[in-house]
Amino acid sequence: MKKTKQKQWWQLRYGTKKGVAGYLNTYSDILDDFISQQEVQTMINFLKNYQFSLSSQTPILDGFCGNCRHSKQLVLKGFKNITAFDWSKEMLTIAEKNLNSHRRQVVLFKEDGRDLTFSTNLFDLYFVLGNSAFGFFDNPKDDLKVALEACRVIKPAGVFIFDLVDYDYVVNQLNNHVFESVENGIRVIRKRKTFQHNGLLKTGHEEIRFHQDRIDRQIIGRWVYTNQQVVNLLNKAGFDEIYFKKEAFCYDKYSDKYGTMGVRNLFLATKNGSKKKGR
Ligand SMILES: C[S@@+](CC[C@H](N)C(=O)[O-])C[C@H]1O[C@@H](n2cnc3c(N)ncnc32)[C@H](O)[C@@H]1O
Repeated sequence: MKKTKQKQWWQLRYGTKKGVAGYLNTYSDILDDFISQQEVQTMINFLKNYQFSLSSQTPILDGFCGNCRHSKQLVLKGFKNITAFDWSKEMLTIAEKNLNSHRRQVVLFKEDGRDLTFSTNLFDLYFVLGNSAFGFFDNPKDDLKVALEACRVIKPAGVFIFDLVDYDYVVNQLNNHVFESVENGIRVIRKRKTFQHNGLLKTGHEEIRFHQDRIDRQIIGRWVYTNQQVVNLLNKAGFDEIYFKKEAFCYDKYSDKYGTMGVRNLFLATKNGSKKKGR
């Protein structure tokens, strides 16, 4: 009998219609154009702080792009050389719709961030916003694969920039409790759990959605890294100068309202000492 490999939670969350619908509902407040525009502006300001200027022709890669909300804002700001990828066919279909009339300005690819097919030294900027760069995979070693691939596809003197949920916020707010809310008229219960495994923190929850005609359950869980653990991972992948801004995106520090999107730190990693070279 043929053995079917059990899917990891993120494959169900982002690779099935039901999972994607749940994700879009949960984060509808954050996925909107205004917030996305602000997140892109924060990223650009952060880059400027470290003397990385972008031109409209700078080759930019939007990784784990989801509905492409950040690329859309970059297009609106006049950037013309944008490539975006996501592993999920469902998400890429939504990205096409979301980009709408800007669809032709963003080249979309179906790619796995752990094993990209892009050639080496291609992009000046690779960004992953929305708490997506690291932490998804069952095996944390896969996060190193994402970082190694990032270092490979970025040009020398290029930049990898991404945000990740703040460790302290997870410990303080996304800990063992039950959280109930109403999302687009549907009652949702989340049973949160946080635990240590092999010296790493994992946060997860069971999400139960009470539709009129059915009840949907999803199990969601991800690794959460301290800033130092992220720096170590980036160093291991070959990045040499690393900066971060704690709570660069902070939507509600005192509740569970936005889950792992609620409070996020922004990281900037450079390849081959770009700052030293006076870029
Ligand atoms: C939390 S969503 C964030 C999307 C987007 N960056 C945003 O902020 O709206 C995470 C995205 O990562 C994608 N993803 C998960 N694993 C992936 C992988 N191995 N390679 C590429 N994309 C992946 C999912 O399909 C999903 O669209």
